[in-house]
Amino acid sequence: MARTLPALCLLFGFICFPYTECWEAPRFCRGYECPVYTLVQENQGFEERNYDMSYWITTDIVSTSQSDIKEGFWKLYYFNQGQNSANKEITMTRPVLVSVKEADGTGERQVSISLYQSDTDIPEPNDTTIRKTVIPAGIVYVRSFGGMASDEDALENVQQLREDLRAAGKEFIENTFDAAGYDAPWDLINRHNEVWVRSP
Ligand SMILES: *[C@@H]1O[C@H](CO)[C@@H](O)[C@H](O)[C@H]1NC(C)=O
Repeated sequence: MARTLPALCLLFGFICFPYTECWEAPRFCRGYECPVYTLVQENQGFEERNYDMSYWITTDIVSTSQSDIKEGFWKLYYFNQGQNSANKEITMTRPVLVSVKEADGTGERQVSISLYQSDTDIPEPNDTTIRKTVIPAGIVYVRSFGGMASDEDALENVQQLREDLRAAGKEFIENTFDAAGYDAPWDLINRHNEVWVRSP
């Protein structure tokens, strides 16, 4: 049985890890590779997910405006298209993560954009403003919403998520959040967006 399981999993399009359970990528990953997690708990308004450690490429951006996000996204996209030390074309993945860190008191924000890498052997980016990053394993609280997400939509959903977390008595990191986008800008219907808040 143990030996037939991986074959079965391949058959059904699951990714398998030896000695652990099968990972079936959620439907909102649209058949692309995306970071592996287990659903810990489905709550009123949010999911509690336990993510495995994951690898990303990241570049800082000026703000969360659509134009700054696009500029950052294209840098990361060209890295995957082959602008790297191995001249290697890397299959696109999901999601794109916009990370916001708010400095205490001043209201100043540090913003970056990241693209998930399913292969851990990541070549060096030609573009020196891109860095390779690791997100450690841990609990992430996730609120999902549809539509073409604007800056304001993301912020509203973060506020709601934080309220729901407080109501549920969950501890979380207060001054950071991520917005995860799973769809290309030209996919107009059935879009899936998430905001993430991390557990300390
Ligand atoms: C990226 O860098 C590699 C060498 O590190 C080089 O061979 C390649 O031409 C560069 N690609 C671009 C698009 O500049």
